[in-house]
Order: sequence, then C-alpha cells, then structure tokens
Amino acid sequence: MIEIQNASFSYTEWEDEEDTQYTSRVLHQITSSIKPNEFVALLGRNGSGKSSLTRLLNGIELPSEGSVQVEGRFTHVSQSIPLIRRAVQIVFQNPENQQVGMTVGEDIAFGLSNIGYPQHQIQERIAWAIDLVGLDADEDRPVTHLSGGEQQKLALASVLALSPRYLILDEATSMLDPVARKQFVRTLHEARKRQPFALIYITHHLEEVLEADRWILFRNGHLYLDGSPDQFLTNEALLSECGLELPYYHALALSLQGKGIPVSTSLGIEELRELLCRFN
Ligand SMILES: Nc1ncnc2c1ncn2[C@@H]1O[C@H](COP(=O)(O)OP(=O)(O)OP(=O)(O)O)[C@@H](O)[C@H]1O
Ligand SMILES: [Mg+2]
Repeated sequence: MIEIQNASFSYTEWEDEEDTQYTSRVLHQITSSIKPNEFVALLGRNGSGKSSLTRLLNGIELPSEGSVQVEGRFTHVSQSIPLIRRAVQIVFQNPENQQVGMTVGEDIAFGLSNIGYPQHQIQERIAWAIDLVGLDADEDRPVTHLSGGEQQKLALASVLALSPRYLILDEATSMLDPVARKQFVRTLHEARKRQPFALIYITHHLEEVLEADRWILFRNGHLYLDGSPDQFLTNEALLSECGLELPYYHALALSLQGKGIPVSTSLGIEELRELLCRFN
C-alpha cells in the first residue's frame, strides 16, 4: 500500500541577482492511498500537480508537510529510500531519455546490476523481460534501431525486470502514434496479468483509463475528486472543468442516449460501430 497523508509540496527557486529564495506550493494537503495491484489514473490539466505527486511517491522529492509511506516505510527516512525506489518505478514520456544502454540487453541489465541482481541470472532475466513486453528484438539490437513504440516497450521491460510493486506511467504514451499507443497499452495490461503490480497511470487520453479502478482528478494542486470512472464519465461538464475530453465514441453514446436511443456507454468503439450498423 502507498499512503499519502496530508502531503503538501513546494518547489524552491532562487532569484540569482537578488539571491532571494522563492517557494511555490504546487501540492496542497493530498491524502490518498493506492492498494497493491490497483489501477489508478491521475488526471487533470497541465500543471495541476500530477507529476509532482509521483515524485513524492518514490522519494525523489519529499513532502514539505505531511508524509508518504510505501509499504509502511516513510519516504523521509533515508535508509528506506533504496527499497522504496525499487518498489516504485516510473516510465516517462520520452523513451530516449530513459535509455542507459547501447543495446536492448545492456539497457535491461543496467537496472538489474544496480539492484545487485545475481550476475549469473541477469541473462535469463533479460530474456524474460523482452518476452514479457513482447519486444520483437533480440538483446544485441542497438537501441537506436528501435521504433518509438519499441523504445517505450524497452523502457517498460527495463523497469518490469526489477519486479516493481507500483509502476507509474507519466504520459508514457504521449510520444507514440495511435497504433503504437494502443499496442503499448495492450502490452502493459498483458504484462500485469503475468506479473501483477499496481499501475498509476497519468494521461490526457481518457480512453486509456476506462478500465481503471479509480480516477483521481487534480485541480490546481488539489486532489479534487476520487472515484470510479463511471462516476465521472457521464459528467462532461466536470471533465471539461478538469481539462479532460471524453473519447468521441463515448460522447456519441451519451448523446444517443439523450435522444432516447438505448446505447450503453460502456461499449468500446468496435461494439458501438456494430450496434449503429445494426440500427441502420
Ligand atoms: N522543477 C520545477 N520547478 C519549479 N516549478 C515546477 C517544477 N516542475 C513543475 N513545476 C510547477 O509545478 C506545478 C505542477 O506541475 P506538474 O508538472 O506536477 O503538473 P502536471 O499535472 O504533471 O502537468 P502536465 O500535465 O503538464 O505534465 C506547475 O505549476 C509547474 O509549473
Ligand atoms: Mg506531468
């Protein structure tokens, strides 16, 4: 379990000329928790505080007030940090910035060596991670020869090799084209079935998180609302207040409902298309 208790956070900046220190509070008294194996989406406008919160979750930053605990360990206890960093892994939006090896194998091996994974098992683990994310590349492939989608799968393989208990994806699909994005999301969920972990998913694309257990909506650094997706999906005004847009097929189902046509909003795009063809 991750437990966030009344956590606030401020960035500190220095004005060089006057040597003055400024602090700006970007998270205000956040209280929440994330259970093992839960799928939680963090949603909200640009600058609402989503990424800042994730930095508190793996101890990159410490709350200025309140606390964060990962499986009973406080992030402000420095001895706990190595274990917390291992338990909570992050995949960011730009795959290139996350690569540390020249080849697929080197990239996955780097994190494993860092955590002291037994040397004689690293090779086997690399093969396991490549298979887990369905990366169609052998370990000697230079990372520069991978497509954007493949590079992001490699980033995923490199962190999943470390068996995280919590995986944060911070707009990890935003640099991918729609086909690669869908494939990446599918891969992620298949990997979760084989090796369960909690997923903390930040995105501006609601269609990627329709199956989440919870949506947490941020507004101006505040945790504004927390609930099941169904609670929010019928409330377009609320979503747009938080800078979110319904997937177009979902909006279509809602407007058909408004015209008295009995269409479920839980239909996926394919099912909705089939249903509409039948109406025709
Ligand atoms: N390193 C930093 N130094 C100072 N202020 C920062 C820093 N990083 C973020 N901020 C500010 O903190 C606030 C919250 O930013 P954060 O990146 O957490 O938002 P976000 O919800 O992740 O936004 P986005 O959707 O654009 O990624 C913003 O006002 C931002 O300008
Ligand atoms: Mg962000």
